[in-house]
Amino acid sequence: MNNINLKETYLNFFEKKGHKIIPSAPIIPENDPTCLFNTAGMQPLVPYLKGETHPEGNRLADVQKCFRTNDLDSIGDKTHHTFFEMLGNWSLGDYFKKESIAWSFELLTKELNIPVKKLAVTVFKGNEIVPADNESADIWLSLGIKKERIAFLGEENNWWPNMEMLGPCGPDTEIFYWRSEEQVPEIFDPEDENWVEIWNNVFMQYNHEQDGTFAPLKNKNVDTGLGVERVTAILEGVTDNYKSSIWRDVIAKIEEISGLDYNDEKYTRSMRIIADHIRAIVMISGDNAGIKPSNTDQGYILRRLIRRTIRYAKNLNIDINTNWEQELAELIINKYSKYYSELEKNKEVILEVLKNEKIKFNRTLEKGLREFEKITNNIQDNVINKDLAFRLYDTYGFPIELTEELANEQGLKVDTEGFKQKFKEHQEKSRAGSEQKFKGGLASTGEMETKYHTATHLLNAALKQVLGGHVHQKGSNITAERMRFDFSHEAKMTDEEKQKVEGLVNEYIKMSIPVEKMEMKKEEALELGAEAMFIDKYGDIVTVYKIGDVSIELCGGPHVRNTSELGTFKIKKEEASSAGVRRIKAVLI
Ligand code: SER
Repeated sequence: MNNINLKETYLNFFEKKGHKIIPSAPIIPENDPTCLFNTAGMQPLVPYLKGETHPEGNRLADVQKCFRTNDLDSIGDKTHHTFFEMLGNWSLGDYFKKESIAWSFELLTKELNIPVKKLAVTVFKGNEIVPADNESADIWLSLGIKKERIAFLGEENNWWPNMEMLGPCGPDTEIFYWRSEEQVPEIFDPEDENWVEIWNNVFMQYNHEQDGTFAPLKNKNVDTGLGVERVTAILEGVTDNYKSSIWRDVIAKIEEISGLDYNDEKYTRSMRIIADHIRAIVMISGDNAGIKPSNTDQGYILRRLIRRTIRYAKNLNIDINTNWEQELAELIINKYSKYYSELEKNKEVILEVLKNEKIKFNRTLEKGLREFEKITNNIQDNVINKDLAFRLYDTYGFPIELTEELANEQGLKVDTEGFKQKFKEHQEKSRAGSEQKFKGGLASTGEMETKYHTATHLLNAALKQVLGGHVHQKGSNITAERMRFDFSHEAKMTDEEKQKVEGLVNEYIKMSIPVEKMEMKKEEALELGAEAMFIDKYGDIVTVYKIGDVSIELCGGPHVRNTSELGTFKIKKEEASSAGVRRIKAVLI
């Protein structure tokens, strides 16, 4: 069974159990200022886990594009990836532990033919706030998982996402597989690395409130996640994910380009990093949000991935000036565009992003590496100080993480804190902001964010009125303090245009127009002329927000009930975002 069969088997199985299969949301979350990337299948579903009605019903399943940077350093081992696909099934206030656990067990043992004796599970052992999850343990026992194979662990292992994060959460039960040639031990030791986690079933029963309490959710939900890469490797009987059908052709291409052997230990790690990063780069730059390499937020991550890939390509003596990166990217695009059609559509953009960033970095990389060598030959105390780190960043384009990696290889340290301080002083927009956002994840949408969300619809409408029908939303980012809105338009806006747009939005606000939420077929919405930023993302039934005759957009919400709630709208800045895309920063006062 390869990864394609796995995805199909999973989705068919849950379809038969009454689930609607929904499309993957984009990898860049829409209108979610708290997070740069979708990191789990449940993330785009947060409003529904909190109680909103999902247009497709209360049993859902999908394969979601996910991206995580929290363990970038472990990329290069056998099992970690930045980008990965997550299969998931959800119950929104419908079935709960009994069905969820029984179906996971059935799928693994009957459909995927995994022997029961190779499975073990963990459940929540309880703490002073929430009791132990004996119910899940009993269900496992009744299905035939032996007592010795059930471990009760604390909140650091069996609570999702964690006890600190606000929003929907709850105990989980994780399923482990014995991934080793050695005989399966009778007693499950979760510390033994041969036991690898394959599936996580979260029972979302609580909402972690602002005031610190864990309030029972109106609806009890199930949220599960199974990593496609890891399970594919297991089903194919390989212990190295990169030897599975997902990666084999990519690794073969890297071997062909470099003329080196993956099995030669000197090159294995570099090849894995290149393979992993190129796929992530394709997915991020191929997203319809139009992310370009930059020094902030998603753009910074994209830049880091590309620069890291180039450095590791150099380790393999690949001639950077050839089209190696284009060949690899095309291979990935061809593999995945069947599932994610935006990749084919944005192919030229992806290839251009990669090439331009490569050219930019390659100009300074050699000199930077020489500079690094000079620095390390001259330092006294084994520490690269903040000024040197900043010079490498500012003059040679070395992301601080690259300097850290190079230093690490030589047993040196970097004054990263000092660098960050200096960086802040020099940059109006600091990268610290983006790190903060990684932690956000599930933060709730507050009153101000909701207002800004509605304001983006009014701004979109006003821009169309003033600049023309070619204006479409290209992205947005909202915090409690301000909104940012990207839209398609070539020229810089004149002062007069800006005033007109601002005036129009304020007029709409004064008109006290009700904001109506409707559900309808996608075709109907499009016939009504509804705006949609990511049309591929939506299922057949969509949520549409209509603001009088001013605006109609496909959107998940949330929104205010009436435009009069917004206050006064003020444009703070209008600037270029990327080619053909302008950006407005605005506030509500
Ligand atoms: N949200 C859980 C996870 O990411 C299950 O999907 O592991």
